Amino acid sequence: MSPFYVMELLEKARLMEARGEHVIHMEVGEPGFATPDTIKEAAVRALADGKTFYTHSLGIPELRETIARHYRENHALEISPDRIIVTSGSSGAFILLFAALLERGRTLAISDPGYPCYRNIAMLADSGLSPIPVSENTHYEVVPELLDDIPPPDLLVVANPSNPTGIVYRAETLSALHDRLSARGGVLVVDEIYSGLVYDGEFRSSASIADDVIVVSGFSKAFAMTGWRLGWMIVPPGLVRPIQKLAQNLFIAPPSISQYAALGAHAGKEGLARMCGLYKQRRDFLVPRLCALGFSVPVRPEGAFYIYAGIDRFGMDSMVFVQRALSEAKVAITPGYDFGAFGAASHVRFSYADRLENLVEGCDRLEGWLREIGQL
Ligand SMILES: Cc1ncc(COP(=O)(O)O)c(C=O)c1O
Repeated sequence: MSPFYVMELLEKARLMEARGEHVIHMEVGEPGFATPDTIKEAAVRALADGKTFYTHSLGIPELRETIARHYRENHALEISPDRIIVTSGSSGAFILLFAALLERGRTLAISDPGYPCYRNIAMLADSGLSPIPVSENTHYEVVPELLDDIPPPDLLVVANPSNPTGIVYRAETLSALHDRLSARGGVLVVDEIYSGLVYDGEFRSSASIADDVIVVSGFSKAFAMTGWRLGWMIVPPGLVRPIQKLAQNLFIAPPSISQYAALGAHAGKEGLARMCGLYKQRRDFLVPRLCALGFSVPVRPEGAFYIYAGIDRFGMDSMVFVQRALSEAKVAITPGYDFGAFGAASHVRFSYADRLENLVEGCDRLEGWLREIGQL
């Protein structure tokens, strides 16, 4: 299993900070906002009411209903709460899904670059892996034609919006991927953890495509709840019982206080819209500024809080680039290697989860450093 380089960078940055150095963080994908008050208040009420016991393994019925209501009100979709499974983070959903659907002899297809944990969680199931290289030529999407280059997979996971590229899939690409996969007995899994963070146009949940599409989502990013460890997935009816048995054995139940807290998420919608507006402002600052510094951003990121930037112009391997940026400019960035192999040496990922003032300072530092080393 490969290390999660972003965490190693973060740990190195923390050591520098402990020595009194000031580092700008553009590496981690953690919301720079506190959890909204309505959620925290619901958690305090739950504690006072003694809601500290194991819950139903699939999640408390009120939360499954609330999530169903979210799809009804925000996506005009009727999803039965029976198909909604609450999990310990969306990471917990992937562990359950891959345990249920993968094994030796089966294959998981993933986007390269893509979110690294899919590949690493799949290793536990001992399945095969087919990374699908994606570039700006396909808008960083896994398009159906790219499936021609690999043996038919049992499972394809894509993130929409994507980490690390921030692109939002075109609806027709996802429908076509579903048709293509299901014709050959494959299953499409769409990770919508960043679906609350889309800055241009409407987001369409893949739960609208068909009941056999598996949608994974969660509270971490759009609700600034990373530490509460709460996610969910929508699965076809036939998969509920197998997943339930796994959930009972692997997790017993998702965290109880977090589930009661999440019941307060709906009431905090205004705060969430404000948060989304601030992320958009940061993206609109960062993309042109990075381009002016010589980074290439061929596809405009429309969601999440990431920019996947080309560093060809600087003639450095991305690992060397991020190490030097950290020690010489005191700016932490993630190397492309965290997201796969394709284009890994020539790309880095910027996160704009941190405050605008810090992003401005980070860019100023990078500019000074690049000038000093003769790259600007
Ligand atoms: C694409 C993607 N999926 C899932 C996760 C994990 O989220 P959770 O906190 O819900 O486990 C992350 C976290 O960075 C992510 O970027």
